[in-house]
Amino acid sequence: MQEYMFILGRDPELSLVEIESYFQAFKINHSIKYHDDKIAIFDVDQINPSKVMMRLGGTVKIAELTEDYEYYGPKKAITYSVGIIKGDDSDFLDELKLKFKKEKLKAMFKTPVKDETQVMPSKSANLDLEFLWNKGQVYRVVATSNPKEYKERDEKRPAFDALSAISIRLAKIMINLSQAKHEVLDPFCGQGTILQEGLLMGLNVIGVDKDIASAKENLEWLGKKYGNKWKLIKGDARKLSTNIKEIESVASEPYMGPYWERIPSEEEANKVIKELSLLYLALLKDLKNVLKGKIAIIIPRFKTKGGRREIDINSIITAAGFRLYQPVKAISMPLPYFETKSRLERFIYVLESV
Ligand SMILES: C[S@@+](CC[C@H](N)C(=O)[O-])C[C@H]1O[C@@H](n2cnc3c(N)ncnc32)[C@H](O)[C@@H]1O
Repeated sequence: MQEYMFILGRDPELSLVEIESYFQAFKINHSIKYHDDKIAIFDVDQINPSKVMMRLGGTVKIAELTEDYEYYGPKKAITYSVGIIKGDDSDFLDELKLKFKKEKLKAMFKTPVKDETQVMPSKSANLDLEFLWNKGQVYRVVATSNPKEYKERDEKRPAFDALSAISIRLAKIMINLSQAKHEVLDPFCGQGTILQEGLLMGLNVIGVDKDIASAKENLEWLGKKYGNKWKLIKGDARKLSTNIKEIESVASEPYMGPYWERIPSEEEANKVIKELSLLYLALLKDLKNVLKGKIAIIIPRFKTKGGRREIDINSIITAAGFRLYQPVKAISMPLPYFETKSRLERFIYVLESV
């Protein structure tokens, strides 16, 4: 086993639950040694950190515990940095400087951006050598996420509507929470963000939506490379089983009602809640017939002029023959995913068949 430190993204609990779900899905032997709102330290059996990084949406960096501070690349002049998690790293920095001097390696120190661990490392992606210092232990950064690549992928696709699309980061997290290994279904695929990320992870993807035009345009744009690995079905999410006989996992941000220009009245919210309750119940009941694995799904809660209003999702889950799944014992699900000012508050659920 090798000790790895995962630098968690903006929603640390969600990021941790995602890592755990990924390890569970691929049966990677692991044990968690420590976690807080910035990092998680795992002992893990044989992983390829770059591959894991590509797969995860909520992890910013992966670093491995090391006592080897060597630079192995071909360059004669390098840039390097030491990010501090906890403790005082001054001795280590001096040791590094001395080492580089002795080896006649021109090494330029780049000061880490303030609170580097919480910030997407746009700059550190270009470093030649990066260490993280945590209470006297040194970790070498072996994989870094590239937010620039995400932004490009998001905004350059032909059919992009920022208002309704979920972020690439969240799409990846949802897929991992569903523990998809081979295939994933999004029954409300919209512009196809979840499908697109699933394809890039090497999964077979199926999308269902009343309107599949933008998803089709986006998936075709992704390239011929993914030829027959995707399928779109124009249809109703409540009647999936007419077209789909078996599916491994489901990841979805379902229809959550109309877009509110202003805070709705209680009455307006109640009407939408009634409609969505019926939709989600019908969806889950139908999925029960075809699903082998887990569902990762977002459920909305509404702010109204008279306070918050929510769907009685627990009764719906039970009535459809599912139950809540909690990947990490210490973290209770569902997990919230919204900003304080949001009118619509999203909660992330993972469900398994009873
Ligand atoms: C919240 S959007 C999904 C957004 C998507 N996650 C994305 O990133 O593009 C909801 C989608 O559900 C579709 N929809 C609404 N009711 C549906 C139903 N009963 N069956 C299938 N699709 C439905 C809408 O056409 C819309 O594209």
